[in-house]
Amino acid sequence: GTPEDPFVVGMSQCNLGEPWRVQMNDDVRKAAEKHPNLKIVFKDAQNDSLVQRGQLEEFVNQGVDAILISPKEAAPLTEPVAKAFRTGIPVIVLDRALLKEDYTTFIGADNVKIGREAGKWVAETLGGKGTVVELKGLMTSVPGQDRHRGFIEGLDTKAHPGIKVVFEADMQWLEPNARKEMESALATQPKIDVVYAHNDPGAHGAYLAAKQVGREKSMKFVGIDALPHEGVQYVKDGILSVTFQYPTGGAEAVATTLKALAGENVPKKIVLPTRVFTRDNVAAGGQEIP
Ligand code: FRU
Repeated sequence: GTPEDPFVVGMSQCNLGEPWRVQMNDDVRKAAEKHPNLKIVFKDAQNDSLVQRGQLEEFVNQGVDAILISPKEAAPLTEPVAKAFRTGIPVIVLDRALLKEDYTTFIGADNVKIGREAGKWVAETLGGKGTVVELKGLMTSVPGQDRHRGFIEGLDTKAHPGIKVVFEADMQWLEPNARKEMESALATQPKIDVVYAHNDPGAHGAYLAAKQVGREKSMKFVGIDALPHEGVQYVKDGILSVTFQYPTGGAEAVATTLKALAGENVPKKIVLPTRVFTRDNVAAGGQEIP
């Protein structure tokens, strides 16, 4: 890898329809710009696991030096990632985990922990009593599964039998789906105290549905991602009560790729930190969760 003959890295992003993913690509691009010996080729899988599998095959056939992938779903992409990795190319998996660890490194935040923190926040805010709607991320992706599992742990309905999840649905990470699901929840549930959505677009969709029927002030909205211009802004605007940061790991992805290309040892897993943003701490930049 030299500026004249740079390393070529293929990056397959599962979609670019969601703002968080645009941010991830920007973070990768910005970090890579500092290294003229590195060229990143970006591909958008348009939220289709089969398309994403094809992109991995193309990268291998083109002879790229390394692959970055943020996979849409775990099951259909575990084997294609393993296959690319077995050709000897470093493969770095970002944010959404797979079913096996046949790759160089996984980089992402701890979604069980984020879910657990959200659950604890809800249990505490409700004072042990109330009704909850959970709008899940795509449950064929590991962050959706982990954010659900952690939430149930943190909510701890054994210790807080007065808290009930009265409605749950898979909104597949998408704001319009969340809005529709929330319309059903509102139609069937006369009392909703908290809406926990697995990402900020989902929380915002739920808020819009509640606002439509004049019920948004009677409930609290909890989200995840905390992009500065999205979730954090929603907290500032009083739309969300809390959001948990889900860092993109773009800079870490580039740093790890460079190390792997230099033949250095890289960790199998890099766990990114998270921050919580509430109405009380948002002006001060949120607070790190230890
Ligand atoms: C974007 C997104 C984020 C979420 C992440 C989970 O596609 O849905 O909102 O935090 O993916 O992988």
